[in-house]
Parts: sequence; C-alpha cells; structure tokens
Amino acid sequence: MDILNTAERARAGRYRFDEDRARYLAGRATLKRALAERTGLRALDLCIEEADWTKPRLALLPGDPPIFFNVSHSGDYALVAVTDAAEVGIDIEQIRSDCPIDDLARRYYSAHEYKMLRKLPATRRLHDFYRLWTAKEAVLKCAGLGLSVPPALLEVRLSASAAPAIHCLDPQRRFLEQILVRELMVAEGYVSAVAVERHTEIRINII
Ligand SMILES: CC(C)(COP(=O)(O)OP(=O)(O)OC[C@H]1O[C@@H](n2cnc3c(N)ncnc32)[C@H](O)[C@@H]1OP(=O)(O)O)[C@@H](O)C(=O)NCCC(=O)NCCS
Repeated sequence: MDILNTAERARAGRYRFDEDRARYLAGRATLKRALAERTGLRALDLCIEEADWTKPRLALLPGDPPIFFNVSHSGDYALVAVTDAAEVGIDIEQIRSDCPIDDLARRYYSAHEYKMLRKLPATRRLHDFYRLWTAKEAVLKCAGLGLSVPPALLEVRLSASAAPAIHCLDPQRRFLEQILVRELMVAEGYVSAVAVERHTEIRINII
C-alpha cells in the first residue's frame, strides 16, 4: 500500500469484494515496482494515467524513453508485462468448468472457431476455449482496444507446436494481424497469453 498514490487507494476502496481489491492491489503494486526498476524513479512518484476504456499509460516527461506495460488478473494471479520495445497486451484466465463455453463461443467466437471447438472432447474443448479467449484478449489489449472490438472478428488458429495465428475478419482492422501472440504457462488451472507488435522479439522472464 505504501507505494500507491491517493487515486489508487481511493480506487482500491471502491471494490465491493475483498478478493477483487486484493487482485487490484497485487497487480498495481507489482506493476509500479517493475516500472520503478525500469525507469529509475520512485514507485510512489509514478503516475499511471487511466481514462475510461483506454489503455493505462505511465505519465512521462517529454524526452523520457517510452515504456509499455499491461496487466491482467484472474483467480489468485495478477500478471504484469513491461517492455521498452513496443506495445504489449497480456491476459490470464482461471479455467472454470462451470463456464457456459458453448453459449459464449456461439456469441463471441467466429464460425470457424465455434465449429473447431464443437469437434473436441469436453476437457480439451474447455481448455481450448480459454486458449482462444486469452489470445484474442491479449491482442486486443496490446492494441489498446480491449473488448470494444467484437472478439469474433479476431479469428485465432491454435497449434500444438507453433504460436497462435491471428486472422482479422474485419478488413478495416487488418492491422491487428501485425500483432504477435504467444501462449504462457503460468500455473495449473490457468491459461494465459502475451501479445506484442510484430516487429518485436518476444523474450519472456517470469518472476
Ligand atoms: C481491458 C478489458 C479487456 C479488461 O478485461 P478483463 O478480462 O476484465 O480484465 P483483465 O484483468 O484481463 O485486465 C484488466 C487490466 O486491463 C488494463 N486495461 C484497461 N483498459 C484497457 C485497454 N483499453 N487496453 C488495454 N488494457 C486495458 C488495465 O490495466 C486493467 O487492470 P487495472 O484495472 O488493474 O489497471 C476490458 O475491460 C475492456 O475491453 N475495456 C475497454 C473497452 C470496453 O470495454 N468498452 C466497452 C464499453 S463501450
């Protein structure tokens, strides 16, 4: 708590559920420590600018080198990605076996993704449902768009041996295909993915 500013403490106080507050606090504190380490500034002095529905950014002075980050939380985990190379997006989801995946896939996935999932046995279907979701969300968060873009428009092809391939069904948003996505193995019972702009090499340190 000692590295959170007044606005962040106020936001923590607005969560209705303790577990949501704890997830936010853990993610924000980890993020500020990582940003402090990268910038050489004191964590308490860092100001993360956030406006409704926009990607949070670190307030920098003119001439400061850029720094990019993204945060995701689910269940017992908060994931933080920080890089000075390019825009980044990250997503983690706790696998919930009570999730109505068929309904959700019908509404939020492309026809091809839905058909592909329907062919899988139940356990694999649940897992791949989350793999598709985290890949979509990581890409959309990398672009700063979040769920303002219908996830069905971002078609993901999964592979056992290669990174997920992204195909955008909306010709106006083909730029999303320039984003590279990788799956992450973080913990049993969770699925996650990280995305960066394509010209960047992905090197992952999990700390
Ligand atoms: C960003 C978004 C995808 C978060 O999804 P989620 O699964 O609930 O939550 P996650 O834990 O994965 O991510 C939350 C983090 O995403 C980040 N985030 C918020 N808006 C973002 C955006 N537009 N792009 C990228 N990252 C964003 C924040 O850092 C947030 O963490 P914090 O609140 O602790 O700072 C979702 O809230 C979203 O799409 N928002 C923007 C667009 C939108 O919803 N528009 C609808 C209104 S028209």
